[in-house]
This record gives sequence, structure tokens and C-alpha cells, in this order.
Amino acid sequence: MSLPPSSFTVGSPLPVGSLPPVGIDRLGLATPSYRLPMSVLSDARQTPLRKYLVGLGQEQMGVLAPDEDIITLAANAAREALSGENLDNLHSIVLATESGIDQSKAGSLFVHRLLGLPSTCMAYELKQACCSSTVALQNALQTVALNPSKKVLVVASDVARYGFQTPGEPTQGAGAVAILVSAHPRLLVTGLASGQHTEELSDFWRPNYMDTAVVDGKYSIRVYLRALEEAFARYHQTTGLALRDFARFCFHLPFTKMGDKAYHQLLRHGVGAEEVEAAPETQLVPGQLYNRLTGNTYTASLPLSLMSMLENDPTDLTGSRLGLFSYGSGSMGIFFSGIVQDGYRDALFAETHRKQLKTRPALDLATYERWFDRAKPNENGDLTTELITTGSFRFAGMEGHRRVYEPTSKPAVTNSSAVAVI
Ligand code: COA
Repeated sequence: MSLPPSSFTVGSPLPVGSLPPVGIDRLGLATPSYRLPMSVLSDARQTPLRKYLVGLGQEQMGVLAPDEDIITLAANAAREALSGENLDNLHSIVLATESGIDQSKAGSLFVHRLLGLPSTCMAYELKQACCSSTVALQNALQTVALNPSKKVLVVASDVARYGFQTPGEPTQGAGAVAILVSAHPRLLVTGLASGQHTEELSDFWRPNYMDTAVVDGKYSIRVYLRALEEAFARYHQTTGLALRDFARFCFHLPFTKMGDKAYHQLLRHGVGAEEVEAAPETQLVPGQLYNRLTGNTYTASLPLSLMSMLENDPTDLTGSRLGLFSYGSGSMGIFFSGIVQDGYRDALFAETHRKQLKTRPALDLATYERWFDRAKPNENGDLTTELITTGSFRFAGMEGHRRVYEPTSKPAVTNSSAVAVI
């Protein structure tokens, strides 16, 4: 099947009166307050540490405190991305997640209230496994292209849970990335072009009655790589761009070794593979650094890799084209790209993010295992949580089945009896 050519490709000169150069303006980050080092897990599971560090490419995983969840993460990330913004210009806030906290109500409504967003700003939620943030981004780009005075905030927020002693356990994690989309982006002009591959299959899913995922890990790797190849081929058909046109690549990273697999797959089979030589140290590794420290963040994984690339690549990337691949199990793959904007470093929060990732206290195994089971409300739908988070917002519990979120006005109790740090 042939695809119609795109009328607006990334980086092409825009005729007068055409769409504005839409893209990513700001990237905000939130991680859980605590982390579990892979060394603790490897001792407990009697698995060689090298398997985690090298075989999977993971050093640590973020662990949610009992008063943290995808909403508190989303609110913290959104607050950073919106700092200095005129909130009246916000068209909508979209939560992309596969760890939803309600079957009906959009989680972004809680974020809307916590941040005091105007009632003119719409709030909704979007799902398609790990690629819903890219779908939300594409919708946001179109909205902003048609309403250039407006901005859209996409917040990708997730917690990856597989369970104890499962092959997926060392790839767990949590985190949120808020992506502010504008018509004059300070970070990356992406345009609207993308290549997709969609097919129904069962590699990873979470039925409503389960709180951990069901996954056929090896199969999911195979179908991820197939989706990448197909999506890139479509992207080439649409834009004419080949592998030589990309300075860097960022991938969906359920574990960072997946990025190595994806990179080498592209450089073996992508259009123009014969013209380029693999250079993973420069083209791939800077985009894996943060993900090694957070674990899998599902929908936030690709935007986190992009953030990691922009904040850690020692080269000035101004004018460079980055290739981005998003994969959501079930399944859908999307390839798109963006051109890094002049002055991008001034629009990043690099120092803050490095400090945030470095200063999270490490948990011992017993606390990690105790916190894994989330407390349930009583028969009246009531629940109270202790103040533990070091973030700006907390899940205070439930009142009559209603979730209660609040700003943290008191200093967090980082060494309470509930937390054993090592
Ligand atoms: N030192 C170094 N590397 C080691 C090692 C050691 N001592 N022991 C094993 N490894 C390597 C293996 O060779 C393998 O590398 P390869 O993939 O390059 O061949 C890697 O570690 C994984 O080990 P393996 O035993 O093959 O797989 P596993 O049973 O641990 O499962 C996943 C790995 C990723 C399938 C599993 O973690 C999972 O299901 N994760 C969740 C699903 C997911 O993330 N899917 C991805 C697509 S969305």
C-alpha cells in the first residue's frame, strides 16, 4: 500500500501562509523519591549483577512511596514544564498513561486542580500502551499548528510493575515527563510527519483485574523490532529521509539494552544502511543515561530518552536532526524526527534533573517489597497515607472512594519508621 506524500516534512522550508514550525518547547521531569539499586536486587534474587547492568542495561529503578502515584509524578513534572508560562494560553493538558487510577475520570483533572490551571484548559487521558505519549504529542502538534497562539501540555506518567522474581522485575520503574508543545518551540521542531506500523497482537497487556502486567518478553522484543523496521520504512516513503540524515537516535527503552537492539536493527535494515557506520557511543548512549537510572517509565520512556540526549550530549546539537521511535505493545510503532533549535540548552533543566536523579535515597529490599503492595481503602472507601514523598504534591489517601491529593506543605519525613534507606 502506498502512502500519500506529506505536505509538511520536518525541516523543509515552509511556504508563506503554511503551518508554523511546531514542536517541543519544554521538558519537565519527575521521578519517585526513592530508588532501588540493582545491586540490592541481584543479591536478593541471586542473579549476577552483570546481567542487570550489561545484559539489560539497568543500574537502578525508581520506587514510588505509598503517598506517590502517577498523579503526583505528573503534577511535579507539569509544574516544571509550565514554570514561567502564561497559563491562560494553555489549550489542554493530556495525560498519557497505562497505569490509570480510574476507569472513568481523566487523571489530568487532578493535575489541573493541583496546578490551578484555568477552566478554559481542557483535560483528558489517552491510552495505547507505551506509545500513547507520542500519539498525544502528534495530536498536540496538530492542535497547535491550527492554533499557534496556544500551547498543549502532554504529560506521560507511569509505573512499570511486573512482580517479584519475574524476568521483568529488574526492568520495573516509574517516572513522568511533561512535554510542552508550541508553535515556536525552544527545543525541537518536529513538524507533523511520521511513519506508523499498527497490528493487533498480545505481547504485553494488563487486564483490569490485575495490578501487574502480563508479558511475553522475548516476543515483545521481536515485534518491537519489526514495528521499528516497518515504521521507519513508512517514514522514509513519506519524507524521503534516510539514515544518513539523522545525527542521533532516541528509542522507547523498556530497558536500555533495547535501545542497542533497535539501533543495530535500524543500521542493518533501514533505508540507506549501507551509507552509514554504526557509532552508538555518540548516536545512542547519551539518550540512555537517564533511563538506566529510572527503570522503565512506559509512556515516559521515549520523552525521557530525548531529554537525556539533549541534556547529556557533550556536542552542541543545534541544527541536528534526531530520529525518534515510539513503541506501544499490542501494538503500534511510530517513527518521527525533530531538529534541535538554537539556544536549546537554555530551555532545559539539566542541572536540576541530574541532581534529582543523584540525590534519591536508596531503599533496602524489605522496604521495596513492603511498598510494592499498595494500601487499599476500607469498606467505606477511606484510606490515610503517611507523608513520605519529597515531591511537591502527595496522595493523601481516599475519602468516601474519592482520591485526595494535596501540596506538601510540611517537610517530608525521609527517615520515618516507614522508610529504611541504605
Ligand atoms: N552478564 C551479562 N549479560 C547477561 C548475563 C550475564 N551474567 N546473563 C544474561 N545476560 C544477557 C543475556 O545474554 C541477554 O542479552 P541479549 O538480549 O543481548 O541476548 C540479556 O541479558 C537478557 O537475559 P535473558 O536471559 O535473555 O532474558 P530474561 O529472561 O532475563 O528476560 C526480558 C529479559 C527483557 C525479556 C524481561 O526482562 C522482560 O520480559 N521484560 C519486560 C518486557 C519488556 O521490557 N519488553 C520489551 C519490549 S516492549
